[in-house]
Amino acid sequence: MDSVPLDHPKSSKELASLYGANISEDGIGGEEALRRFAEGYALATVTSDNPRSWAFVPVAPTKAATLFDLVVSASCISGTTWLEGAGAIFLENEALSWLASLAGLPAGAGGTFVSGGSAGNLAGMVAGREKARRLGKLTGKGAVLASADAHSSVTMAARITDVDVFLAEGDEMGKLTGAALRKAFASLSETDQKRIYAVFSTGGVTNTGIVDDLATVADFCKEHELWMHVDAAYGGGALIAPEVRHLFDGIEHANSLVIDPHKWLFAPFDCAAIIYADPTDGARAMTQEASYLDDVNKERDWNPASFAYHLTRRVRGLPFWFSLATYGVRAYREAIEQTLAIAEFCAQEIRRRPYLELAIDRELSVVVFRRLGWSDADYVAWSDKLLDEQVAFVQPTTYRGERMMRFCFVNPLTSQFDITEVLDTMAPTQI
Ligand SMILES: Cc1ncc(COP(=O)(O)O)c(C=O)c1O
Repeated sequence: MDSVPLDHPKSSKELASLYGANISEDGIGGEEALRRFAEGYALATVTSDNPRSWAFVPVAPTKAATLFDLVVSASCISGTTWLEGAGAIFLENEALSWLASLAGLPAGAGGTFVSGGSAGNLAGMVAGREKARRLGKLTGKGAVLASADAHSSVTMAARITDVDVFLAEGDEMGKLTGAALRKAFASLSETDQKRIYAVFSTGGVTNTGIVDDLATVADFCKEHELWMHVDAAYGGGALIAPEVRHLFDGIEHANSLVIDPHKWLFAPFDCAAIIYADPTDGARAMTQEASYLDDVNKERDWNPASFAYHLTRRVRGLPFWFSLATYGVRAYREAIEQTLAIAEFCAQEIRRRPYLELAIDRELSVVVFRRLGWSDADYVAWSDKLLDEQVAFVQPTTYRGERMMRFCFVNPLTSQFDITEVLDTMAPTQI
């Protein structure tokens, strides 16, 4: 086990009783504030980069990235406009170009780093709509097509922007395909068909790790002249691994692409890339107009503020860039391959245990499985117990209406022993 313990949450009542009020007229001093944090409150936060943290989508920042996150915070660089942050933005753009090249986007593709995949999906939704409106293809309320397995932030982005989402049913694995899109499109009224301006596809579904059939999605988008957004917030790191790269075929046709280095590319939290095949699509939709910005909005290389809903921003892509520059691409490839290998090991261990059953064939680093004979409550009780006993941090999920277990691996330090020890606690004799 990693030496940093997992820890676990406490109730707000317990936290309130730790030290009482911390904010006072005279202040408690830095040493005391730090002591209270380190000895008290920090222990009530889960160590998300622990090698046994497999709930949701965890994080596994490299030492170099973590170190440089401190440098970024201490440097007070504004990553808003080229005028203020040129040197840092240049390096962020180098990292963005590298991500774009992994996907095979055209030369010149670019965008910016936003806070997370949710912000990236919102940007894609807005940029696609703006383009459709500008070309006169959309006049009233817009709509997009997506699969039911698309991330919840896609629905949220649609709600924020007052866009409708029409669902297309995925194939037996839940993959969004061109055929599914054609069927969903055909079932719509002519008026609704005219409102569709984009398809939101996923390169690594959060719940299952499944990658949509991006090549046929791209065909469909081409047929109907629709904006193609690919949400590879979680799965995008796998673009670097030759063994699974084929799953992403077609991603090169994306108009907008989201990849979160704070998920599976070893950056600390607050690092997601939104990349446009044609960055002017993003800038047309999201450049803020204000008299005090008039001059910086004139052609000045690259203003990250223009590529998403934000103005002031820290150069949150730099920790990722620093780590990538430090260790090199090979180290990244090997680290991704290692997590894929550990996910495969987990799948094999599940297959050979009679009390466990894989729910879906693994594509990336998410493993979804059932413990035969368990009720919904058993999954919750087991997950709670594992955290209470500091064995692992896991959370159940629901897949096709059934409660089951889901592990998501992004940490190359997760060992085979970690997996077997946790799975052993599901054995009938252990209950
Ligand atoms: C596929 C996908 N898209 C979007 C998101 C949202 O990303 P964030 O939590 O960084 O906003 C997630 C989060 O897990 C995700 O897996």
